[in-house]
Amino acid sequence: MSLTIAVPREIYAGEKRVATVPEVVEKLLKLGFAVRVESGAGAAANFSDESYQAAGARISGNAAELMDGADIVFKVRGPTADEIALMKPGTTLVSFIWPAQNPELMQRLAARKLTVLAIDSLPRQLSRAQKMDALTSMASISGYRAVIEAANAFGRFFNGQVTAAGKIPPAKVFVAGAGVAGLAAIGTAANLGAIVRANDTRAEVADQVVSLGGEFVKVDYEEEGSGGGGYAKVMSEGFQQAQRAMYASQAREADIIITTALIPGKPAPRLITAEMVQSMKPGSVIVDMAGEQGGNCELTVPGEAVVRHGVTIIGYTDLVSRLAKQSSTLYSTNLLRVTEELCKTKDGVINVNMDDDAIRGLTVVKDGTITWPPPPPKLPAAPPQAKPAAAAMPAKKSGHGHGAGEPASAKSLAILFGVGALLFWLVGAFAPASFLSHFTVFVLACFVGYMVVWNVTPALHTPLMSVTNAISSIIAIGALVQVAPPLGAETVGRPGALILGLAVAALTLTAINMFGGFAVTRRMLAMFRK
Ligand code: NAI
Repeated sequence: MSLTIAVPREIYAGEKRVATVPEVVEKLLKLGFAVRVESGAGAAANFSDESYQAAGARISGNAAELMDGADIVFKVRGPTADEIALMKPGTTLVSFIWPAQNPELMQRLAARKLTVLAIDSLPRQLSRAQKMDALTSMASISGYRAVIEAANAFGRFFNGQVTAAGKIPPAKVFVAGAGVAGLAAIGTAANLGAIVRANDTRAEVADQVVSLGGEFVKVDYEEEGSGGGGYAKVMSEGFQQAQRAMYASQAREADIIITTALIPGKPAPRLITAEMVQSMKPGSVIVDMAGEQGGNCELTVPGEAVVRHGVTIIGYTDLVSRLAKQSSTLYSTNLLRVTEELCKTKDGVINVNMDDDAIRGLTVVKDGTITWPPPPPKLPAAPPQAKPAAAAMPAKKSGHGHGAGEPASAKSLAILFGVGALLFWLVGAFAPASFLSHFTVFVLACFVGYMVVWNVTPALHTPLMSVTNAISSIIAIGALVQVAPPLGAETVGRPGALILGLAVAALTLTAINMFGGFAVTRRMLAMFRK
């Protein structure tokens, strides 16, 4: 029997998003689900009840009617106590939850015996998770919107222009924090023609800043800013002092500052002081995206736009909602991808498979039991943990039934080795001496190759293949010998035109193989480096 997905109207004040859009309804129906939408749920994002109906959803008059018979609930904001009370035990909820910040909500969800997938708890480091990553899609929208808000409040063009009335210099935008939102802001501001500079404590984002058209400004202080998992860490006092000095000089120059600096679970770092605001040119704009976490700027009023020392400071906390149609579309596509993972059979039934890394990370409550925080996910590129030899030895000795398989495998290995040695002796006894030497090299090469490949993490097999491919270009030596015969081989004479041509062609091809192979390996390995 196919399950019913219910999409209520978001009741959080100022929330304009909706958890599913008509385009995605059609895809959910194709997966075998029935879809119900509360009347008016999409109104603030410009999706009418009729458009949902046309896509195949049923419209429910109110939340109580909607939840009655719902098996799965899609939401944007975490549910209120009243909303939870409307869900029947056993319902699966997919929504933003923020379990670390909302322990009471977690208790309520568990008490109601729900299964809850918190979209904010997705293990983002899994490459498979990208399509479900609503944090990323929402942050990119807000980064874009931050620039649009800044442009709206700023009294000049972003791009430089030469007009009959005079020359207009381009606006200077400084972006603090080049995470997802920061990078989107950099790209948007650069596209509008501004001169964009950016800083982040994680030096590894410098390349991304440049690729989006910005310039990375370094803090003159050596300290590793990465706290693991692609997130930042709290920096030392020395670094912070050097950073303040750099930010102070950027503030004097910039027309617009967009701050997005955040360390998960920590109050937002204070980067822009009142004095820096004062030093900015009148008419400048600051968009502080971290308002909800206390703000990156000392003078930010969360949720509001205020003017201080002639500078407009925008602290809106609803940037995503201000682009409700776009954000609802991306969010509902993220939820569709989650649903596809839950319903691989495409028959309108879900399986919350706790053995799946992505689903395990998302699931914060399973059938009324809190399952958050999840165990750390297995990272495919991480080298396998070396088993401590000392710990393994006593286990072998003690036996006790558990070790029964190990002596057996050692025995079969010994038999295999014996048979191999016998075959080798037979070959040695009957084959010509030259064959034996080639054969020995061949066997040793197989053995070494096997041992090398066996110890490489599967995720790195592709770069390994391309590097071995590059190494195989050693055959270039053959072509080189043909082009220029070794010293002392004059008697053989110069090679004919045909041989020379073939050798040059072989050299060209192997050169492509060699340089290309190493270049590809380098690029692939770079993807595994944080
Ligand atoms: P993220 O974690 O991807 O990026 C934050 C960046 O700040 C990281 O690159 C980190 O290295 C950097 N950072 C941390 N401390 C720093 C410091 N002291 N100096 C310079 N850089 C530092 O986060 P994301 O997703 O880009 O979000 C950015 C901010 O925007 C967050 O505060 C988030 O809550 C907020 N946000 C606000 C919205 C709104 O409507 N106002 C909507 C969506 C996100």
